[in-house]
Amino acid sequence: MSTNIGKFADLQSGIAHRVMVGGIAVAVVRIDDEVFAIADKCSHADVSLSDGMVWCESKQIECIKHGSAFSLESGVPDTLPATQPVQVFRAEVVNGDVVVSSQEGNS
Ligand code: FES
Repeated sequence: MSTNIGKFADLQSGIAHRVMVGGIAVAVVRIDDEVFAIADKCSHADVSLSDGMVWCESKQIECIKHGSAFSLESGVPDTLPATQPVQVFRAEVVNGDVVVSSQEGNS
């Protein structure tokens, strides 16, 4: 299932945006010309990753609660306390719109 979440040009780079894709909360992140989608729930506790900081150079999103930073490409955390990856989703720009697929995959 794919969801059109709006214009790529309207997404501010370096900021996470929470959207619903097929009933799943997803954090969509634009970094310059790329777009990523990661499940909006930390694997350590029920905390929205979209509330955290985006690290553009390393393409990570940091959990606001305890500071584990998750790869936007793989969903893997870099440090404790989180040890499990977060699901990532396919995100692509189609005719200027950002389309997120609820199937797992990299952008
Ligand atoms: S709740 Fe995210 S690292 Fe603890």
